Amino acid sequence: MAKKRVAVLISGRGSNMAALIEAAKAPDYPAEIVLVVSNRPQAPGLSRARDADIATAVVDHTLFGENRETFERALDAVLATYRIELVCLAGFMRRLSPWLVGRWRGRMLNIHPSLLPQFKGLDTHRRALEAGVKEHGATVHLVVPELDSGPIIAQERVPVLAGDTEQTLAARVLETEHRIYPRALRALAEGRVRLESSDQQDMQRL
Ligand code: GAR
Repeated sequence: MAKKRVAVLISGRGSNMAALIEAAKAPDYPAEIVLVVSNRPQAPGLSRARDADIATAVVDHTLFGENRETFERALDAVLATYRIELVCLAGFMRRLSPWLVGRWRGRMLNIHPSLLPQFKGLDTHRRALEAGVKEHGATVHLVVPELDSGPIIAQERVPVLAGDTEQTLAARVLETEHRIYPRALRALAEGRVRLESSDQQDMQRL
C-alpha cells in the first residue's frame, strides 16, 4: 500500500517532528513526512526539517492580523499543494477553527504533554506539579473542535518524582512523546483507528 503523505505542523523546536521523521525512515512505516509547516518563521524545527531534506513552508499568522480564516485558508492551500493526506500537530501553538478541524476530520493528530483529559491547555507540567499528581504523561489524540479533546490514540505515563522541577518533568514526558507519536501515526496511517462519531456529536462538543 502507498505510504500516506503527512505534513507536520510546528511552532518551535520540533523534537516531536524529528521523532516522526526518524520513525518514517523505516521501510515498513506506512507514512512519509513530505512537508513541515511552521506558523513562526524563526522556529528552530524548520532548519532541522531542511537538514533532513524535507520540504518546509512558513505561513506566518502575524501577517494575517486577527483574521484566523484567511490564515487557515492559506495553511490549507499549502497542504493541498503537497497533496497531504494526514496532518500531525507537533507543538503547533495556534488554536484551529471548527472549519479547518472539520476539513481534516479524522485525519489530524495532536500531541499534548499531559494525561488527557487532565491538564488541557498550557503549562501542563507546572500545573501537574502544583496539583501534586503522582503520575503525568503524554497523549496523542484525533483533533476535534474542542481544544485538547477528541479520541485518544496513544497515551503513556511517567512517574512524578520527589524533587521534580518543571524542566525535569518535561524532559521525562518528552521522551514518552517521542515514542508514542510515531506509534499513533502508524495506527492512523494503517487505518487501525478511525473517527466514528457523527458530525453532530462533534458539533455538540463546541
Ligand atoms: C511538546 O511537549 C508538545 O507536547 C507540546 O509542545 C511541545 C513541543 O515540543 N504541545 C503542546 O503543548 C500543545 N498544546 P517540540 O517542538 O520539541 O515537539
